[in-house]
Amino acid sequence: PVFAAILVAAGKGTRMGGTLPKQFQQLGPRAVLAHSYDALACHPRIANVVCVVHPDDRARAAALLPPGTVLVAGGADRVASVRAGLAALPDAATHVLIHDAARPLLPRAVTDRVIAALAAGAEGAAPALAVIDALWQEDTGGTVARAVPRDGLWRAQTPQGFALPALRAAHARPLPADAADDVAIARAAGLRVDIVAGAEDNFKLTHPGDLDRAARILRARAM
Ligand code: CTP
Ligand code: MG
Repeated sequence: PVFAAILVAAGKGTRMGGTLPKQFQQLGPRAVLAHSYDALACHPRIANVVCVVHPDDRARAAALLPPGTVLVAGGADRVASVRAGLAALPDAATHVLIHDAARPLLPRAVTDRVIAALAAGAEGAAPALAVIDALWQEDTGGTVARAVPRDGLWRAQTPQGFALPALRAAHARPLPADAADDVAIARAAGLRVDIVAGAEDNFKLTHPGDLDRAARILRARAM
């Protein structure tokens, strides 16, 4: 198998705020995008990384990434950005890992588990964490209607990995209503997706304060 990766970095980071989208904000000595790119590009099993960015951010991204990095223009939503990345993968790739640029602290071991599942024949494999807290369905008006059983519920992460022909076929079908990520699209096409263990460090930078949390983790790793 030949593993390629798509790094989706074309979002605007509206929930995070700031003058630049979150993937271009600073995390320790480098921009978030440089961390998430290296997590993929430095993995020994990943042959190629395509980075999807908003056309407005192309020059900014190019300045942060190694010369010659393949940059493609993203779309209006994440699915459109993934599709732009799929169109730019090298022909030799047999499998693809799709990763959020907003998850800069991806541990090597998480990528290892996704790749191992695919190498063992899974059509898809993605990291996740079991839900720990109780879950509530809210009533109208901010009161608890009922508890929801959390057994068998998982918090999805990336990189989400797939056999490339199977994922391309899934993307060629009409989008499911809940097309939140590629696992949802793969499932709608009937693909089997293995759950592998994610990691707390692999959280998605979303809200103000998340960069401070990531910086603390980064400092702890350096000690
Ligand atoms: N993404 C993308 N293209 C889009 C939207 C999102 O490539 N049109 C990417 C983001 O850059 C991010 C990942 O998908 O790395 C996960 O999306 P999210 O965390 O929602 O990031 P944003 O959409 O940028 O943030 P927000 O929803 O707060 O605006
Ligand atoms: Mg978004």
